[in-house]
Amino acid sequence: MSKPDNEEPAEEDVYAACTSAPLSSYKLHHAASVRDVSSYWSKLATAKLEWFSPFPSGSALTGALEDGSASWFSGGRLNVCHNAVDRYCSSPYDRGNETAILWEGDEPTSVVRVTYDELRKEVCRVANALVRCGVRRGDVVTLYMPMVPELAMTMLACARIGAVHSVIFAGFSADAIADRIHDAGSMWVVTASAGSRGGRSLPLKSICDAAIGKERCAGIVKKVLVFDGRGEGGDAWEGIEGVHVRFTPLVASMRPACPCEWMDAEDPLFILYTSGSTGKPKGQSGRPERGGVCDRDETTLARIGRRRYALFAMVTTANSFGLAQQTGPSDPNAPHKDVYACVADAGWITGHTYIVYGPLLNGLSTLMFESTPVYPDCGRYWDMVQRHKITVFYTAPTAIRSLMRFGDDPPKRYDLSSLRVLGTVGEPINPAAWKWYYDVIGNGRCSVVDTYWQTETGGHVITNLPGITPMKPGSCTLPCYGIDLAVLDATTGKEITSSPAEGVLAIRQPWPGMARTCLGDHQRYLAVYMKPYPGYYFTGDGCRRDSDGYIWITGRVDDVLNVSGHRIGTAEVESALVAHEAVAQAAVVGIPHEIKGQGICCYATLVEGYPETDILIKELFLQVRTHIGPFATPDMIIINGALPMTRSGKIMRRILRKIASSELDTIGDTSTLSDPLVVDELILKVAKFQ
Ligand code: PRX
Repeated sequence: MSKPDNEEPAEEDVYAACTSAPLSSYKLHHAASVRDVSSYWSKLATAKLEWFSPFPSGSALTGALEDGSASWFSGGRLNVCHNAVDRYCSSPYDRGNETAILWEGDEPTSVVRVTYDELRKEVCRVANALVRCGVRRGDVVTLYMPMVPELAMTMLACARIGAVHSVIFAGFSADAIADRIHDAGSMWVVTASAGSRGGRSLPLKSICDAAIGKERCAGIVKKVLVFDGRGEGGDAWEGIEGVHVRFTPLVASMRPACPCEWMDAEDPLFILYTSGSTGKPKGQSGRPERGGVCDRDETTLARIGRRRYALFAMVTTANSFGLAQQTGPSDPNAPHKDVYACVADAGWITGHTYIVYGPLLNGLSTLMFESTPVYPDCGRYWDMVQRHKITVFYTAPTAIRSLMRFGDDPPKRYDLSSLRVLGTVGEPINPAAWKWYYDVIGNGRCSVVDTYWQTETGGHVITNLPGITPMKPGSCTLPCYGIDLAVLDATTGKEITSSPAEGVLAIRQPWPGMARTCLGDHQRYLAVYMKPYPGYYFTGDGCRRDSDGYIWITGRVDDVLNVSGHRIGTAEVESALVAHEAVAQAAVVGIPHEIKGQGICCYATLVEGYPETDILIKELFLQVRTHIGPFATPDMIIINGALPMTRSGKIMRRILRKIASSELDTIGDTSTLSDPLVVDELILKVAKFQ
């Protein structure tokens, strides 16, 4: 991915790690952890989690990476909700009266604290209500919710009764929800009458209703359970008898106790849909019956998180944010000194692992934030840090870049001295944004942890450790404990052992957070992750490793875009476009974007007889928003009579990328195109758009 401000990161720019342990201690510990990953994770699993029945000793890891059969702690039975909630309510932890969830709603005055005791009771009530409605162990429950405590409670309630949650980010459209409900065969949908964001109400129930009204959901959804919204008039809604259930009063009427289902460590805990790279070109997809042609497969796949993911979520939260130093694992009674805030959305993996499961599994108090960084003004985050005395603050580079635009004054108005660790996630952070975060927000005294990972990894796989790893702005630094990283030559697939090196990023041995399959499509899983470089898990990212062994992510090497830290498959956008009756062909590429990291540029040709009008272009923008969601709105749509194709009929996306990014000197040879003049036409059109 291009750096938004075209800065070249300077490798010699090293920031000391602020405190204690030397890097050599990390190196020793890391080397030992990957020498025998099975023993490393098995010891942690026994020490950190409470098991109903332990996994057989000596066989923590069985199966192989290659065929997706690697399984962890199989035969051991545990309950993730018990580990994240119940155990902290009793001895030896006795944290029942401490805050588990600190919720801040859209308005800064809407603050609710839920203690561990209250959380346990509420989760039990929700669990009982789910069971009353008919949800059983193994059922998939779709959640389309605002960022309110009920979302975390419902996730935990599913974990408690052995159901599998499939959380859909509340920015997705009815179409995207319908696809996911259909794909997972989800009989149960939980939503809220409304949410609010930035002073605007989100009609979540209506969007869900539109989704379940679609033909592909017919006969699948049995019940829609609707929580009252927390905003004004949040309980005013109408439903269909026998389908919609008023969930808030039902939950309130339930007993606050519910036994935990003891699940195998390999049983699914959740499903999360993410964009993947395209598989083999399939000829056509989208809606061919309407004449549209998109030359690639659909790419949204469901990744399944297993119950053993809890260990990875717990350990990486503790290590990456330096929690162990704060409490000391040998002293379970010591109250947590940290007020932890990850301001992502629970609809993405970051929210699953680092808002809900990771912090609660560590007995921390976790912030759930419903609003935006600029509501009611651009000081919102810093106001929260001051009011709640937040110590660990975790956000995305896009948010940092967008707040930087307002200058240093807004943060300077607040007392940010409680901060200890600042985290970034989801995309490469450019050095200017890193330095602003470090200097202006952290006042030069906080560690900035640049956490690299993916939905499929379940948790951090590369990051600096606060107080241990010297930092280099723009580098996610060194692998996490228990992660056996490799840099491979992209062409030969051979591992590059010397540094500096440039290649693709891969992982050599399994780890407990990893996804093992894609729902209903194991072959696709193998094709995307395991087959490109046999013997390794392939991340899909390119990287450099500098002479200190530090990793610098250079961006995706496949057809996945990273827009504001949201992962979007180019083929998904293409499918949305060709579903419009006027579009004959579409090709989508990423472009550098100052704030979002990457923007979306769409090229399309029209079906004979459709003129290119402003109204049509507006419809196409809307088309992508309604098929995927507003976060996937294109930055440019360019219509032309033709796209650059090879003589064998393949769209040359490489050339389209160069044109969109105005990198005209490096377009290269266009003589192999069936019509080289198309390139000149497109250059003119893109220039006009800009
Ligand atoms: O390209 C990498 C980028 O985000 C991708 C994973 O996206 P997703 O599954 O949506 O997970 C987002 C939350 C982790 C990766 O393949 N990415 C993630 N973190 C970083 C990053 N790129 C550079 N630096 C990071 N710290």
